[in-house]
Amino acid sequence: MTQVIQIKDIARYDGQQVTVRGWVYNRTGKGRLQFILLRDGSGQAQCVAFKKELRPDEFEIVRGLSQESSVIITGTVRADQRAPGLPGGYEIGIQRLELLQQADDYPITPKDHGTEFLMNHRHLWVRSNRQWAILRIRATIIKAMRDWLDDQGFLLVDTPIITPAVGEETTTLFDVDYFGETAYLAQTGQLYNEANIMAFGKVYCFGPTFRAEKSKTRRHLIEFWMLEPEIAFCSLEELMDIEEGLVSAVVERVLAKHPQELAIIERDIKKLEAITAPFARISYDDAVARLQTRRAELDDPQQQAELAIEWGEDFGSPHETALAEMFDKPVFVYHYPTAVKAFYMTPVAGRPEVCRSVDLLAPEGYGEIIGGSERIHDLNLLATNIDQMGLGREAYEWYLELRRFGSVPHAGFGIGIERTVAWICGLNHVRETIPYARLLNRKYP
Ligand code: 4AD
Ligand code: MG
Repeated sequence: MTQVIQIKDIARYDGQQVTVRGWVYNRTGKGRLQFILLRDGSGQAQCVAFKKELRPDEFEIVRGLSQESSVIITGTVRADQRAPGLPGGYEIGIQRLELLQQADDYPITPKDHGTEFLMNHRHLWVRSNRQWAILRIRATIIKAMRDWLDDQGFLLVDTPIITPAVGEETTTLFDVDYFGETAYLAQTGQLYNEANIMAFGKVYCFGPTFRAEKSKTRRHLIEFWMLEPEIAFCSLEELMDIEEGLVSAVVERVLAKHPQELAIIERDIKKLEAITAPFARISYDDAVARLQTRRAELDDPQQQAELAIEWGEDFGSPHETALAEMFDKPVFVYHYPTAVKAFYMTPVAGRPEVCRSVDLLAPEGYGEIIGGSERIHDLNLLATNIDQMGLGREAYEWYLELRRFGSVPHAGFGIGIERTVAWICGLNHVRETIPYARLLNRKYP
């Protein structure tokens, strides 16, 4: 038996006989010479079949192989600079080939398909080079975030997905029938993080979160993954230090680990290389003033209309994009109007119309990737907010209780995985950043 190898390791086996198992990504050739580009999940290698080196029946099988047929190939590795593949530079001279299944006509061909068609075939589309590259980068982004937090002394503490309390806003809730009572799918794990920091100091949760977003945008998913750190005794300024440390470490890791994947998706590396801490910090007041100045410089009335903003309004995508264009790195916008943010954010002392919140806007028009704030730690103020927003005390009794037993100033944030992947990979829509997107009009596959 020859050794079964992963194609990513092919360089280690130069001159040796190996076995590779995978799928036919492409087959070309004429008559007595056939080239198979084989994918095995870890990479791709060119496998060459010479008529005279195979049994006649085996060679006939090779000649008839359709795209995505599954095979086991044994042959000898040899260095050849021209050989395509991932990593490439080596090919396998086929000595034996076993066909596991001859694939039917594969719907995704090298021609251009529309995005809807591809999304309908997502269960197959994930095999394509670009998707392979993106989802590998996604996995690294998640791991890099977790490694960085673990190294900084944060503890992963999981939070529930089924929850009785509204986490963020009442307009995007998913109801769950909980044995005759109403519960919701979690919009955030934050409220539980706030309990957990009183036990562990610095924690994070990581999991799927749910928002019944009724609008179709390039940045919204119904089900998205969020990583949420929470820190006891933390100010907004310290929170920004943590955010920029985390984000720059993640970009650095992707650059170091994925030159091949970034090349496949044709990402402009220079833009990512610029992402080093510190990032600019501007107030909401300043951001509004900058937007108004920018708007006055525009000639196009439609662009002007999109960029209209009055103090007190929340930013839309055009505002976030215009702000981000003023910087080469992500930019923090802090102290948003209290009225546009969630119930748990601390009002600014002496100026309660704004709150101790901060969003991080990604460069190149990718919008808000992080939302965070200082949390109200005063019992009465928090209880009043909950009542005023009509959230119903019952579901928050335990949350309020945290303010009665050693309440401390604290802060935290949530970073959206898909928006971060979209930005780092340079993708114009979040639907390609998650293996199986849930969108307003899509729950399949
Ligand atoms: O700003 P958000 O709503 O903040 C929270 O949920 C806080 N509880 C987090 C915290 O402080 N622990 O969401 C945080 C991030 C956004 O910046 C965005 O990246 C992402 O989550 N996000 C979405 N991503 C995709 N689709 C959606 N519908 C999203 N909604 C939020
Ligand atoms: Mg937000």
